[in-house]
Amino acid sequence: MMLLQIQLVNLALSLFNGLFPTDVARHPHVRPQPDNAMNFHLRHLHTTTSSAHVYLADVPHDLPSASSLASEPLSILTSPMHTTRPSSSDKFIAARQMSKHGQSAILHWEEDEVPGPDVTRRETLLLLAKMTSNTYFVPGTSKWYNLTDGWNVGMPVGWEPEDDGFRGYVFSTEDNSTVVLTIKGTSIPIVGGGPTIERDKLNDNLLFSCCCARVSRAWTPVCDCYRGGWKCNQECVEAALIDEGLFYPTGVNLFNNITSLYPNANIWVIGHSLGGALASLLGITFGAPVVTFEAPGERMAAQRLHLPSPPSTHHITHVWHTADPIAMGTCTGALSTCGVAGYAMESRCHIGNIIEYDTVTNLSWSVRLTNHPIATVIDHVLSMPWPAADEQGLEVPRVTRQDDCLDCFQWEYGNFTL
Ligand SMILES: *[C@@H]1O[C@H](CO)[C@@H](O)[C@H](O)[C@H]1NC(C)=O
Ligand SMILES: *[C@@H]1O[C@H](CO)[C@@H](O)[C@H](O)[C@H]1NC(C)=O
Ligand SMILES: *[C@@H]1O[C@H](CO)[C@@H](O)[C@H](O)[C@H]1NC(C)=O
Ligand SMILES: *[C@@H]1O[C@H](CO)[C@@H](O)[C@H](O)[C@H]1NC(C)=O
Repeated sequence: MMLLQIQLVNLALSLFNGLFPTDVARHPHVRPQPDNAMNFHLRHLHTTTSSAHVYLADVPHDLPSASSLASEPLSILTSPMHTTRPSSSDKFIAARQMSKHGQSAILHWEEDEVPGPDVTRRETLLLLAKMTSNTYFVPGTSKWYNLTDGWNVGMPVGWEPEDDGFRGYVFSTEDNSTVVLTIKGTSIPIVGGGPTIERDKLNDNLLFSCCCARVSRAWTPVCDCYRGGWKCNQECVEAALIDEGLFYPTGVNLFNNITSLYPNANIWVIGHSLGGALASLLGITFGAPVVTFEAPGERMAAQRLHLPSPPSTHHITHVWHTADPIAMGTCTGALSTCGVAGYAMESRCHIGNIIEYDTVTNLSWSVRLTNHPIATVIDHVLSMPWPAADEQGLEVPRVTRQDDCLDCFQWEYGNFTL
């Protein structure tokens, strides 16, 4: 475990040192702009503690080691994207409250067309993955400003590789009309550690496992939802979500803070792993274009959190490959790597469009947790043409959906008593 962590940190650091700034500079991201491309500049770093506090730091323009990252504009290809959003966040919250109490509210969804990332282009996915990946920033080089009380500038919250919580970058176009928010989730066993890991683990298990992390008899589930056989108490699963899992309010705070900085912007949310699951839930809530990498199935989490479901989810795109057990929802069972680390990531159904790279069939990869990091996706999946897509005259695999997907089908949920 320890070794693995060190390797991954090294991987991340080498990614930081080598891959991103120089690679971006060398690669054709910066070039005469086609009409449908937008140039983005890095503006802020963000980090969110597991008590859902959001911290933002401006990116200084004299950062030595990251100067190219901070100063070179990143050119991203866009295409018009159809989104649906609730007519106001108050109405959304009201609808959530009603659905929590078993009533269904009629929520008016507004339709809009905004520029979104062109996810049919490999170049776009590769750049977005890199923007999401490179969250290891030299601490102390950034100027923090306080968005909440009690922030101690000397405290490197969220910036240590072993820290958990969400973090990432905020990029914007010159005119601030489009903003890219990247989120990297780190509370996955392979990255592990940190003082809040236990609580994050508990919430993750409640959102992404079938029955309060009842993996086998040997496990102590996170709460007492299990009712024998394959029976699970639904009310108990939901009641156990401490503060609604913190997971979701964390993202809502972050999104609201970005919105208050960029009140007129079209905001895209890009995330890896749990950061991707969070990005998708924000996309549902705010109608934001979303691209995720290797995100666990978030549909069950959306239901458990009683998020109203929008009429269309085509503005959400999940990118994954089949040898990643987290995205595929196969990291189940007490003896799996996830199980051993105390996680039950059993959900497999995703909301929105899916771009699936079949690395198991096309590259003969075997399914394992070490295929989950975004560096794997960048270096071994997105960095070269994908022959299986080329065969069809496409740059990336054709979009699919999981509309008929079932999570935890062997479980029965209800108000079972013990
Ligand atoms: C920003 O996030 C904080 C939590 O860190 C939250 O209390 C505050 O309401 C947010 N600000 C806005 C404008 O939403
Ligand atoms: C942020 O908070 C810290 C500690 O509370 C304080 O020392 C610092 O001056 C604050 N910064 C700003 C810009 O208000
Ligand atoms: C864009 O937002 C940044 C804050 O990140 C601000 O400094 C800048 O003046 C804004 N630019 C325009 C053109 O509004
Ligand atoms: C990739 O795998 C698919 C089956 O999933 C197969 O139809 C296709 O021919 C393969 N392509 C390549 C280039 O290996």
